[in-house]
Amino acid sequence: MAHRIAVIGGDGIGPEVTAEALKVVRAAGVQIDTVDFDLGGARYLRDGEILSDTTLDQLRDFQAILLGAVGTPDVPPGVIERGLLLKMRFELDLYINQRPFIGTAPGGTEPHDFVVIRENTEGPYVGEGGVLRKGTPHEVATQGSVNTRMGAERAIRYAFELAMNRRRYVTLVHKTNVLTFAGDLWQRAFNDVAAEYPQVSTAYNHVDAACIYFVQDPHRYDVIVTDNLFGDILTDLGGAVSGGIGLASSANLNPARTGPSMFEPVHGSAPDIVGTGKANPTAAVLSAALMLDFLGETPAADRIRAACAEPGTGSTTEIGDRLAAAVAV
Ligand code: IPM
Ligand code: MN
Repeated sequence: MAHRIAVIGGDGIGPEVTAEALKVVRAAGVQIDTVDFDLGGARYLRDGEILSDTTLDQLRDFQAILLGAVGTPDVPPGVIERGLLLKMRFELDLYINQRPFIGTAPGGTEPHDFVVIRENTEGPYVGEGGVLRKGTPHEVATQGSVNTRMGAERAIRYAFELAMNRRRYVTLVHKTNVLTFAGDLWQRAFNDVAAEYPQVSTAYNHVDAACIYFVQDPHRYDVIVTDNLFGDILTDLGGAVSGGIGLASSANLNPARTGPSMFEPVHGSAPDIVGTGKANPTAAVLSAALMLDFLGETPAADRIRAACAEPGTGSTTEIGDRLAAAVAV
């Protein structure tokens, strides 16, 4: 039976890379029924819709959502990000953001292979806080970080489960030396879950030190678990040391499967190169492979990953065509 996929191409290069991802999935022999949702900055500028509750309810009926990229320079920062992307993450309870990194760091010789599990529904992303006396010399802005035991624990548990099928090594990344309240909650949740997995080795890195290790010694990592904001920043760095952001894929997962999960490249809408054919669709294709893993189509996903591991150049559609040819059954 065909998988029902909602497609949000979005803005900028989003629709271009998403089209290639769908081409490759179909070439791999996976049956999908897709419905396009016209959402993003361009749609917002046209009629004001960002993501209405009606549209959100329509998305709930799909098995997965494939997203290109959203955001346009014509809309102030935060409007589309919060109203569309973060709204989906929160409302669909996509509490895991899984970002795999396989590649060779600049100047390195041996490829590394690690995964970042980023908590995806809490931290400073929740929008807690506010502003007082705006525009005056006495202006005050606060932006709190929300950390629940449940939220931290379910991300940590997911990381340990994943590690059981990998090299059985989980590193917690935080900043417990400064963020003593949130860091302590995370550290205790981590220690408690670790006690349930005696087969899994563990480590802890402060996030600033982790930045050095990402560049100088990424081989030390297997599975990393961290909070929402540290995970956001670290995964851009992860992309940069693993062949570039053009290859970085991500899965926004609801592992409880109470609704669809969402799959998107880590990169943004890159309005500066839209229409030039310069966008590398590989990150979108690899995100679609993560979607196929989640839909139980692992052999097709593995074929797609193998094809993407072959370095290649060309325009957006040339790369897509080459990958499609390589995965055909
Ligand atoms: C990401 C992006 C988003 C984030 C933005 C667009 C809101 O940077 O998925 O990493 O910060 O989570
Ligand atoms: Mn990011």
